[in-house]
Amino acid sequence: MNTDQFLVKSDINLIENTKFTWKTPSNIALVKYWGKSNPQIPKNASISFTLNNCHTITTIEFEKIEKTTEVTFDLFFEGKKKEEFKPKIAEFFKRIQDYCPYIFNYKMTINSENSFPHSSGIASSASGLSAIAMCLMSLENELVQDLSQDFINKKASFLARLGSGSASRSIEGPLVVWGEHPAIVESSDLYGVQFPFKVDPIFQNYQDVILLVDKGEKQVSSTVGHNLMHNHPYATNRFQQANDNLGKITTILQEGKIKEFIHLVESEALTLHAMMLTSSPYFILMKPNTLEIINSIWEYRNNTNSNICFTLDAGANVHVLFPENEKDEVLQFIDKELSKYCQKNHYICDTVGLGATKM
Ligand code: DP6
Repeated sequence: MNTDQFLVKSDINLIENTKFTWKTPSNIALVKYWGKSNPQIPKNASISFTLNNCHTITTIEFEKIEKTTEVTFDLFFEGKKKEEFKPKIAEFFKRIQDYCPYIFNYKMTINSENSFPHSSGIASSASGLSAIAMCLMSLENELVQDLSQDFINKKASFLARLGSGSASRSIEGPLVVWGEHPAIVESSDLYGVQFPFKVDPIFQNYQDVILLVDKGEKQVSSTVGHNLMHNHPYATNRFQQANDNLGKITTILQEGKIKEFIHLVESEALTLHAMMLTSSPYFILMKPNTLEIINSIWEYRNNTNSNICFTLDAGANVHVLFPENEKDEVLQFIDKELSKYCQKNHYICDTVGLGATKM
């Protein structure tokens, strides 16, 4: 794996104070990443829809200082200083310091806000870390001239991955693959790449309504969950299955085979949670209402021929996926039949998006 390509090899022309603001989205995996080795290398390839409305906006102010040996930064979340978020970001800076040596020349003030409530159970690590990565790449682009957009996106994804694996899939859109896979020529374990094939119109502008079943902190973090895949009795088969599914979905997306899409995506979601149920120690992140929603979706699909389906990430919330041309009926169904299973009837309507935007 060629990580050398991300080292800064040319001269760095340090500038004085500057700041950049980026808006980067969350993403929802169709084939799931669950299991990794060091440093943040996935055990299988994954693919996600980039989202649009669920995003983070981050500004980093860079103030030139005498070169230090410790990265210097302050962190504000929604206007308030957040000491408790600092260790994760400090660890991130440690992981990327060889690739971004200029971070020792600046004091960074990071200001971040999410479009979704912090306590919604929607993971903010993908959007949060990709936003920081884009701000760093904007700085690098000033310090080292003539970086191509392609390189900027690739390195931003590479850096974001070192913070949180799924963040590597939040730089671009509408579909991003992360992890080396024979069906995706340019794919890599080091960064996400755009799905390289033309997608059938049925999958364009796909809709994702996120049902907020449980807004509390998860009892088991993703990091712990990933680690439990070491020595997991089904790990080898699971990683093989995910890679097989990535091959299958590559064809499904191009050929518009929506029934197969539904089957594969729901199976991936349930398999992810099956891995949790069969870990040692075992754990359950679904809640009773998660199952109520899944059963209601199946019943509605049986009764109507709708192409609605669900997926889950590492929590109790349910992502309801459907084609744009079914929006009116499905939104009515959600409002009438599913919103009652959400905390305070709260859900978020999102669509597939195109990735990071400079503000
Ligand atoms: C279930 O990317 O949150 O959402 O790399 O430890 O930060 P870390 O894990 P994270 O794991 C995401 C897991 C998932 C599936 C997915 O997004 O592919």
